[in-house]
Amino acid sequence: MTEVSVAKEDLAAIDELVALKSVNKHFGALHVLQDIDLTIARGEVVVVIGPSGSGKSTLCRTINRLETIDSGTITIDGRALPQEGKELARLRADVGMVFQSFNLFAHKTVLENVMLGQVKVRKADKKQAEEKARALLDRVGVGSQADKYPAQLSGGQQQRVAIARALAMDPKVMLFDEPTSALDPEMINEVLEVMQQLARDGMTMIVVTHEMGFARSAANRVVFMADGRIVEQATPDQFFSNPSSDRAKDFLSKILHH
Ligand SMILES: Nc1ncnc2c1ncn2[C@@H]1O[C@H](COP(=O)(O)OP(=O)(O)OP(=O)(O)O)[C@@H](O)[C@H]1O
Ligand SMILES: [Mg+2]
Repeated sequence: MTEVSVAKEDLAAIDELVALKSVNKHFGALHVLQDIDLTIARGEVVVVIGPSGSGKSTLCRTINRLETIDSGTITIDGRALPQEGKELARLRADVGMVFQSFNLFAHKTVLENVMLGQVKVRKADKKQAEEKARALLDRVGVGSQADKYPAQLSGGQQQRVAIARALAMDPKVMLFDEPTSALDPEMINEVLEVMQQLARDGMTMIVVTHEMGFARSAANRVVFMADGRIVEQATPDQFFSNPSSDRAKDFLSKILHH
């Protein structure tokens, strides 16, 4: 009996890829993350939604240590995020991040953008890095743009390059912070489709988005934040048809009926 339950616990621990425990963060007097407990299993797709200023971006940024935390712990694949140095660079590379603004290097070609991290951080040799970059650019549908500079691409193409660049590091988890909100409407779907495919391929993903269609079709779980707290979490079906908190009901009525 005991042996079986221990084995199950071990399995659950292995399956837990990202774990935040009692995480708190302040910006001066503002308590921006309040006792956040959140675990994300390997292969899980979690969509984070909530009103502006609720702490969604800060949450993402703490997960790859672009922001420090005041208390609590964050582990990636069982390992705490180190404070600084090479170890941090390596662990950070395990967490791919795609922002609203594409953040590509303007003076490097698309191909170079996707090769750079592989060579610098992962110490890949150039030929292998190039092969992998070309394969990833094909995968996100911009293989023919490899030799152009970012400014020569549409926003949707640039964002797909940003996704390819993050994937080139073989991340264990991908964070997306409103990846489509700076895009013209006709380009949103081409980026969402790439993300849908990633989700289907089993990538572990944390996605901050207002795209409720994506949340419904790709998410395993919706996490609703307000005022620095996780107010509720549920499957997309449960959350959209029967949210339990007034904050979530209010939020949904605003975003679904405008
Ligand atoms: N570097 C910073 N210094 C001080 N305050 C900050 C900083 N970054 C964010 N904040 C504040 O922390 C709160 C949470 O911000 P955050 O960007 O995480 O919210 P969000 O949920 O991502 O909002 P949005 O939907 O508008 O992107 C906001 O009140 C914001 O003004
Ligand atoms: Mg934000």
